[in-house]
Amino acid sequence: MQVVLTGCAGFIGSHLAKRLLDLGMSVTGIDCFDETLYPAALHREQLAPLLQHPRFRFVEGNILDVDLLDALTKDASAMIHLAALAGVRPSLHQAARYMRYNVEGTQNILSACQRSGISRIVFASSSSVYGSHCAVPFREDDPAVLPASPYAASKRAGELLCATHCDLYGGSIAALRFFTVYGPHQRPEMAIASFAARILRGETVFLHGSGESARDYTYIDDIIDGIIAALDKTSDRSLGLRCYNLGGERTTTLRKLVSILEASLGRSARIEWRPDQPGDVPVTWSSLQRSRSELGYVPKVDIEQGIHRYADWIRARLANTF
Ligand SMILES: NC(=O)c1ccc[n+]([C@@H]2O[C@H](COP(=O)([O-])OP(=O)(O)OC[C@H]3O[C@@H](n4cnc5c(N)ncnc54)[C@H](O)[C@@H]3O)[C@@H](O)[C@H]2O)c1
Repeated sequence: MQVVLTGCAGFIGSHLAKRLLDLGMSVTGIDCFDETLYPAALHREQLAPLLQHPRFRFVEGNILDVDLLDALTKDASAMIHLAALAGVRPSLHQAARYMRYNVEGTQNILSACQRSGISRIVFASSSSVYGSHCAVPFREDDPAVLPASPYAASKRAGELLCATHCDLYGGSIAALRFFTVYGPHQRPEMAIASFAARILRGETVFLHGSGESARDYTYIDDIIDGIIAALDKTSDRSLGLRCYNLGGERTTTLRKLVSILEASLGRSARIEWRPDQPGDVPVTWSSLQRSRSELGYVPKVDIEQGIHRYADWIRARLANTF
């Protein structure tokens, strides 16, 4: 199978590219090394091992470049679209740019697939589409009409564009609602990565709210298993657009997360409490009923195990800096 993978130099994309290659597929990756969340050098570091692989082709470029997308998709059989501006908080200050990359960019991908005859598409959506007002645990049949940030709205808009695409042109699209993904190479601005680095360096950890906000955390290997299962599912020609939660089906409060990190890193955190931030939601929690029954998705790494693995990785990585 010849797969086009957008966002291949990102946290999830670089892990996924490796798995696709391990499974014998050919991968054409595209990424623009966007620096909104972290430096291009880190994207390049994640990409570097892939560049050695004979079945991996990398093209540096932006998904806003329609001609480039046409060239990339010409001989491909499937599209996995991960490229986006991620992150809730920065989206509040750069809403128009988020819409351009995440909404216009996603439409460009869908149109290129249509022109190239690609009918199997996986789209990276987000648990953030559920906002603050949906009943927990979140289920895919919730209308999800009140996303709490421009980022969340851009992901919901992407899903709607996928629905329209299937309605007009057919094809099978799995839209995957990832629940806070973590593991080696997690984006440095995300909670686990930034808290761990600060704890190890003896710097203050800033916690927002009361400490009772809760997240459903998902280890990267489980997410990759879910994406592969979803790609497989798109061989079902009658799928249309189908949304799937990929989470851990369990919540962890902010306070508890910090205590697990402290235990795994063997160090105490110096904590300073700050008010809640706009755009943040009190809880995310996945129902996995649909993804379990239709994708066979079962998360295997719980938060204690996953943080333990992450702690080993970040300790080794930062070994020279403290
Ligand atoms: N990490 C999570 O917890 C999480 C949760 C929900 C959804 N997601 C979604 O999963 C996807 C991957 O997230 P991630 O955590 O790996 O983020 P990431 O920022 O590490 O990866 C995204 C990659 O896309 C690239 N990119 C961005 N805009 C681009 C453009 N216009 N053209 C080409 N490349 C572009 C970036 O350079 C980056 O390498 C994103 O769509 C994100 O919204 C992630």
